[in-house]
Amino acid sequence: MKIGDITMKNPVVLAPMAGVCNPAFRLIAKEFGAGLVCAEMVSDKGILYENEKSLKMLYVDEREKPLSLQIFGGERESLVAAAKYVDKHTNADIIDINMGCPVPKITKCDAGAKWLLDPDKIYEMVAATVDAVQKPVTVKMRIGWDEDHIYAVKNAQAVERAGGAAVAVHGRTRVQMYEGTADWDIIGEVKKNVSIPVIGNGDISTPQEAKERLEKYGVDGVMIGRAALGNPWMLYRTVQYLQNGEIVPDPDAREKMNICMLHLDRLIEIKGENVAVREMRKHAAWYLKGLPKTGSVRNGVNQMTTRNDMNKLLFDYVDQLEMEESQQKIIS
Ligand SMILES: Cc1cc2nc3c(=O)[nH]c(=O)nc-3n(C[C@H](O)[C@H](O)[C@H](O)COP(=O)(O)O)c2cc1C
Repeated sequence: MKIGDITMKNPVVLAPMAGVCNPAFRLIAKEFGAGLVCAEMVSDKGILYENEKSLKMLYVDEREKPLSLQIFGGERESLVAAAKYVDKHTNADIIDINMGCPVPKITKCDAGAKWLLDPDKIYEMVAATVDAVQKPVTVKMRIGWDEDHIYAVKNAQAVERAGGAAVAVHGRTRVQMYEGTADWDIIGEVKKNVSIPVIGNGDISTPQEAKERLEKYGVDGVMIGRAALGNPWMLYRTVQYLQNGEIVPDPDAREKMNICMLHLDRLIEIKGENVAVREMRKHAAWYLKGLPKTGSVRNGVNQMTTRNDMNKLLFDYVDQLEMEESQQKIIS
């Protein structure tokens, strides 16, 4: 897949996820093989007013590239100014515009999914951004506002006419939030009606589903979000399956906890131990998902305040699990 002059080594894309896709997790996703990683959305006004937190969110480690940095906003002037800032002052490869965020705090400001109701505004905003920057500009959108206003094809065509370099489409409406299922037939319609790359997104939870969607709907890339939470192996296994048809086994508990701690250590480098450990509680619960007998370790994770206590808690759980498994083997 190629976006502007940026080439991806495979079509597997880590979805932008607020509170998740910071450099710590993005680098892990990249090390697990993702062809492109997307950063969490950043407010255009936050960038413009040089809000410290927003500017920190623009940091890109060289090893993460190629990387797409996402901005959101509702007004042309501030959106273009923020895009210019990202263009000049960051080493992101792609500038992505958020046109899918469903939360009222964002849509009330005419940002995020609000644009989905107005293809003319999409054209105007994207064209102004493309004109102002050197880096390729892409858009991530939902299929529509609600089931009566599904303008996915028109909206994607507006992006293309405006000079957008690619479009990622999440197959849900704004009103659906995360309910129901993603409508891939509409994503397929978008693909048939534009000539820029189309990245399909929504409900991909196995490598086989990723392959099936690439083939059935002809999309150029597959974007994976929730299935990668605490599970970067989903990215690795998908890349492996696409490249050589091989289904790599799921990791064992020790391997999962090793990566969980690598994630925490990288988060500590960025945010300091206090904040990182608290933020890591939700990630640790995701890393534990699917493993046996996690009841008490999950409760414990939510009490953790230091790196070493988190490490001890997780590996005591692994030791206990491995001991029980080896006893089980002896018995049987
Ligand atoms: C925790 C979380 C945060 C998200 N933040 C963003 C965001 O910052 N920008 C964006 O465009 N989409 C965001 N999304 C939407 C995802 O990028 C993706 O479109 C959605 O989760 C559907 O894909 P999935 O079924 O693979 O999870 C977020 C989703 C989740 C679960």
